[in-house]
Amino acid sequence: MSRKPFIAGNWKMNKTAAEAVETVKGLAAEVADIKNVDIAVFPTFLSVLAAKEAAAGSNVNVGVQGVHFAASGAYTGEVSVDMLKEHGITHAIVGHSERRQYFGETNETVNKRTLAALDAGITPFTCIGETLEERESGNMEKVLESQLREGLAGLTADQMEKTILAYEPVWAIGTGVTASPQQAQDAHAFIRQTLTDMFGTDTAEKVIIQYGGSVKAGNVAELIGQKDIDGALVGGASLKVEDFSALLKNASAVC
Ligand code: 13P
Repeated sequence: MSRKPFIAGNWKMNKTAAEAVETVKGLAAEVADIKNVDIAVFPTFLSVLAAKEAAAGSNVNVGVQGVHFAASGAYTGEVSVDMLKEHGITHAIVGHSERRQYFGETNETVNKRTLAALDAGITPFTCIGETLEERESGNMEKVLESQLREGLAGLTADQMEKTILAYEPVWAIGTGVTASPQQAQDAHAFIRQTLTDMFGTDTAEKVIIQYGGSVKAGNVAELIGQKDIDGALVGGASLKVEDFSALLKNASAVC
């Protein structure tokens, strides 16, 4: 089963709209020839429209860092699927570990947000991953399994195939410590096996599972060379045109 790799940049709370536009334009020019990797960046809500306009006609998709499950109402600080659809937004990160850690997101809210995105035709990039403490206490698989079973509860097989998963071990995010290719592959294989149990082999084989956590130009090729790693969700190394374009080119060269 060949899955087209998807590499995306999560810009987190970085870049003004002007900076986002400049980066998108520079990136689009650098990666215009890359056809074998899908590409996206996720600016803040305030920058996303300007960035999307700057990316028009290029192979750089522009998405958002979150989506709420309610259609509208008293949810201060949140954005609904209709508001995203109005502007043609088609990609959204859901349940990043920073949202879980600082903003109280749980497997249940991640599940509701994932379903809301799918129902609206928006591709969710649903994030999972264990903390260092969970890994060191031997609970990695247990944590990943409950994030998958609870976070993806109620999805049809068809919806699962439209969902992109990002495995981001919390201990590797922003730390410079990358999971070794073997550690990452082991976790991805476990995730795919769990998807097989939940949705069947055909579906599990189609799901794109990104790795995230200190991915850089220098390690991306080895990571995505692993059998079950289908791309990357990149933080720090996606912020500068020269870093992210080098990363994308290195990835494209081995796909
Ligand atoms: P870093 O690449 O900065 O470790 O961040 C990873 C991440 O959280 C992407 O969502």
